[in-house]
Amino acid sequence: MSAPQHKQTHRTATLLWITLCLFIFTAETHAEDVKPANASNYTALPRASRDGIGKMYQGREISQVMGHLGAEWLERSSRVLEERPQLLVDSLGLEPGDVVADIGSGSGYFTRRLAPKVGPSGRVLAVDIQPEMLALLKRNLQREGIRNVKMILGTELSPKLPDASVDVVLMVDVYHEFSFPHEMMTAIRRALKPDGRVVWVEYRMEDPLVPIKRLHKMSRAQVIKEASYQGFKWVKAYEKLPRQHVLFFRKTSD
Ligand SMILES: C[S@@+](CC[C@H](N)C(=O)[O-])C[C@H]1O[C@@H](n2cnc3c(N)ncnc32)[C@H](O)[C@@H]1O
Repeated sequence: MSAPQHKQTHRTATLLWITLCLFIFTAETHAEDVKPANASNYTALPRASRDGIGKMYQGREISQVMGHLGAEWLERSSRVLEERPQLLVDSLGLEPGDVVADIGSGSGYFTRRLAPKVGPSGRVLAVDIQPEMLALLKRNLQREGIRNVKMILGTELSPKLPDASVDVVLMVDVYHEFSFPHEMMTAIRRALKPDGRVVWVEYRMEDPLVPIKRLHKMSRAQVIKEASYQGFKWVKAYEKLPRQHVLFFRKTSD
């Protein structure tokens, strides 16, 4: 290769290198705008925040899932006073014979309180994505002799519930952890009976005194925004719990 030819090749290589660097830099700075090819509802953050997964949905960063090693916290005795779980269960208006899905059941703190409400003719469908949580739930159900619960190992995308089969879907302190909220809520919508209701229970973001990490709290406005986007209409709120919103929704007509 002659000297000018070599120079030309070198210049072209340098130009290519600069273009590549610029591309990488731009991609990095605008990472928030990048939509993963298979998930147009979501955008990626350049960096996940401390308790988040670095994925945005409807202006909110999705939080990490609470691991099964934290299950003891769910069963802490102080929870009765801190959260008044029986008030929440009573507010649901459950009838004997109802089918209620406890999505993100964890160790079954609420599953066990829902079971007597629907009685032997009803059913609690306890769904979780961690087999370890379901193992704890099974042990707790056996210890308390509760028989009207069906455990379901769901996935990040679906609770694996049969179509049009559920009267009430309860989500306590879990929705903000859904890594695919859009897909989960589409599947939940399908699983609801036509007059079924979905109940979001989330720690109040509006209240700085609620001692819970930021990404594990949600404002009422944010829940209503996301639920409306997913095809649910807001019915009412029950605001008598010390720390959590209880927000009731129905499906909008198809
Ligand atoms: C913070 S715990 C709450 C457990 C229970 N609802 C309670 O209040 O005691 C959240 C649970 O939701 C589960 N979870 C997270 N994403 C889920 C999903 N997509 N489907 C079902 N369960 C999920 C987690 O594995 C975890 O057990």
